[in-house]
Amino acid sequence: MRRKGSLYLLGRLYDLAFGHMFYALRRRVAAAVERDGLYPWLDVCCGTGSQLRGHAPDLVVCGLDKNLGMVRYAAARAPGLPFVCGDAGRLPFKDGSFRAVSVSFGLHDKSPDLRRAMMAEARRVLAPSGRLVAVDFENPWSFKSKVGALAVRAVERLAGGEHYRNGRDFLSRGGLKAFLRESGFVESARHDVEIGSISVIVARVEAHAI
Ligand SMILES: C[S@@+](CC[C@H](N)C(=O)[O-])C[C@H]1O[C@@H](n2cnc3c(N)ncnc32)[C@H](O)[C@@H]1O
Repeated sequence: MRRKGSLYLLGRLYDLAFGHMFYALRRRVAAAVERDGLYPWLDVCCGTGSQLRGHAPDLVVCGLDKNLGMVRYAAARAPGLPFVCGDAGRLPFKDGSFRAVSVSFGLHDKSPDLRRAMMAEARRVLAPSGRLVAVDFENPWSFKSKVGALAVRAVERLAGGEHYRNGRDFLSRGGLKAFLRESGFVESARHDVEIGSISVIVARVEAHAI
């Protein structure tokens, strides 16, 4: 079963295309969690599970994705780590169960309603001392990031249809920074990646948003 999962073509192609490119981002997200020992850690919209791959099973981590093929692939590539098939807009976890929730490239492609539901769920499952670590697109802020944004737009066009439209909508509303602020999160640290017009933001839940 595990071996079969690892043969999932979409997972293999995704890792092949983006595994190397996203390596530094994965490390940055992991460092934000590791630095403050923010376990248990939930990675939503985990895709191929590459964010959690390599973590010791005794560090409590969990990946969640809606695509069963991806979940099986993720589990096959990271033996010993739990991956759950579920909806990030309706998380199957109790209130306050996690000290970190991460979401990488899992917001811009969703509809505004699903994005909002995902953030409401992230706020619900985060413990009071917890942190959200989000990686996604920002509107370009420099010449280099404008070039990066053009390349990203070309790739997003290939993803097509709703994914592309939702991505344009996400940026037209101000990108990751604005979305997190509207969703009741307060930024505590950020790292901007000019070449992709991407940001990694660490945020806590705003007191009155709980
Ligand atoms: C662009 S991929 C990002 C994957 C991964 N986080 C990464 O950084 O490579 C978006 C992921 O969201 C998942 N997804 C879509 N709708 C979802 C939902 N409602 N709940 C959970 N996952 C969902 C897709 O299956 C896909 O794996």
